[in-house]
Amino acid sequence: MPDEPLVLGIETSCDETGVGIVRGTTLLADAIASSVDEHARFGGVVPEVASRAHLEAMVPTIERALKEAGVSARDLDGIAVTAGPGLAGALLVGVSAAKSYAYALGKPLYGVNHLASHICVDQLEHGPLPEPTMALLVSGGHSSLLLAPDITSDVRPMGATIDDAAGEAFDKIARVLHLGFPGGPVIDRLAREGDPTAIAFPRGLTGPRDAAYDFSFSGLKTAVARWIEAKRNAGEEVPVRDVAASFQEAVVDVLTRKAVRACKDEGVDHLMIGGGVAANSRLRALAADRCERAGIRLRVPRPGLCTDNGAMVAALGAEMVARNRSASDWQLSADSSLPVTEPHVPSHDQDGHDHGGHDHGDHGHGGHGHGGHDHDHLHELSKENLYS
Ligand code: KG4
Ligand code: ZN
Repeated sequence: MPDEPLVLGIETSCDETGVGIVRGTTLLADAIASSVDEHARFGGVVPEVASRAHLEAMVPTIERALKEAGVSARDLDGIAVTAGPGLAGALLVGVSAAKSYAYALGKPLYGVNHLASHICVDQLEHGPLPEPTMALLVSGGHSSLLLAPDITSDVRPMGATIDDAAGEAFDKIARVLHLGFPGGPVIDRLAREGDPTAIAFPRGLTGPRDAAYDFSFSGLKTAVARWIEAKRNAGEEVPVRDVAASFQEAVVDVLTRKAVRACKDEGVDHLMIGGGVAANSRLRALAADRCERAGIRLRVPRPGLCTDNGAMVAALGAEMVARNRSASDWQLSADSSLPVTEPHVPSHDQDGHDHGGHDHGDHGHGGHGHGGHDHDHLHELSKENLYS
């Protein structure tokens, strides 16, 4: 619908430079530049390499998205950007770019939360999010169970990993098996030809006294690495497919079990799964099976929307505009540990109340904002934020 908000979203929290454009809940463009190949030889994302790659890719990716969407930057109703959590230097590139474009174009700026964006992206595929929705977010950087009564103002943490993220465990086991980086896709592929019951690997934090919704993958990772080492030391061949399948089963068994339990305990009948690991075929299949048996409707976006992208940021930005949430001010800073309870960073300006009616308390940004455009803005932008 033409009166729905047209929003451009910028995502630079990790190694993908993502720029998406949406109108309401309709995806118009999703441009991505990834530096994943540059990190592969290090076996993980190198922050400095990511920041530099974002700088180089930013303007061309924005231009590509505008062209793909067939819209002019002048027509935008807002510019959204991931303010956190993520790699500080990488986030800063996106926040600086978003501020520059928003300032130059005279558009409102929305600093949004990366995790809430991962949830909101599902609107682009399956329509408006039911309220409340339970969300299982699993990626290389995060593994959380979140209850979202309102994705623009009320996101509550149910549980999270106490050590490694689920994707990190996939990446580490892939490294032990010499399968390259990132490890998830290749383990997923090999596991299809393996036996998931071949080796009984431990299910972390599933004892009666363990935290019901928290995750732990560090013990599993060690157990798998030791098992492989023992085989190698004995001069035996490592059954890679069976190891991959058994390891993967241990991860997805715990993830789906806890997610379904959280839904039942909270009386929530919609579960969404997002983040890069949501691309995992066995996770999708087991979640579908367990949700169906529990009477829960499962929503999983297509893999391209599960991994980090700009469309998810635009989706949440558009929802902010649609619900009249206040824009961020020019003091917006990248916050590498932005709490999940803050779906967006509202203006702290006296004139610009957060219309969400949600008191976020002290954000620690110490900023006093400015409402309108005045000469100070350019000074602030260039002085403290632009590639400093
Ligand atoms: O969301 P994402 O692109 O980036 C962040 O970490 O935020 O997620 C990347 C992670 C990597 O750890 C990768 O190994 C994992 O998602 N991944 C998968 C699969 N595809 C990607 N893990 C399991 N199965 C997959 N098919
Ligand atoms: Zn992510």
